Amino acid sequence: MKKITAIYPGSFDPLTNGHLDLIERGSKIFHRLIVSILKNSEKQPLFSLSERREMLVAMTARWKNVEVDSFDGLLVDYADRKGAQAVLRGIRAISDYEYELQMALTNRKLRPSLETVFMMPAGRYSYLSSKLVREIATLGAPLEGLVPRLVEQRLREKVDSDIRERRAARRSRKRR
Ligand code: PNS
Repeated sequence: MKKITAIYPGSFDPLTNGHLDLIERGSKIFHRLIVSILKNSEKQPLFSLSERREMLVAMTARWKNVEVDSFDGLLVDYADRKGAQAVLRGIRAISDYEYELQMALTNRKLRPSLETVFMMPAGRYSYLSSKLVREIATLGAPLEGLVPRLVEQRLREKVDSDIRERRAARRSRKRR
């Protein structure tokens, strides 16, 4: 059997239990799995690159064949640099399919030798997304079961510090 290195790319803003479920599944079938955070997304992330990296490193330490990294530029070029033969992506519901197909076929056009492998997370995570998690955290609802404890803690700290910053900005506007 060939020893396959796969890249699991994404924004991970923040890491959810759905991502972790996929990482665990990927770690079982690939010889080496590199979870890689996209550096320069057009989106303004909630967590900085180093914050996202810290959470991913802590939560994936239990799988010895899983590494955490980051990249910018084209995924196919990054995969070449890492000697990877596959890209791992998760498909939750049919709604993910169109976007994922578009990315997989674009990557295939750019690098025919790089295969995209889709895996499904556990059914209980099929509705879960980082976007929803950010919204739930901002509105103060419980995050239990959606993200690891560490991520929940970081989300609470982030939301609290955003509220403090907004209050301080309001106070300084009033004083002027
Ligand atoms: O978690 P996300 O935001 O859905 O991940 C998207 C990601 C990082 C996989 C995608 O944006 C990506 O691969 N970007 C790198 C740029 C690239 O290679 N684009 C061309 C192929 S789509």
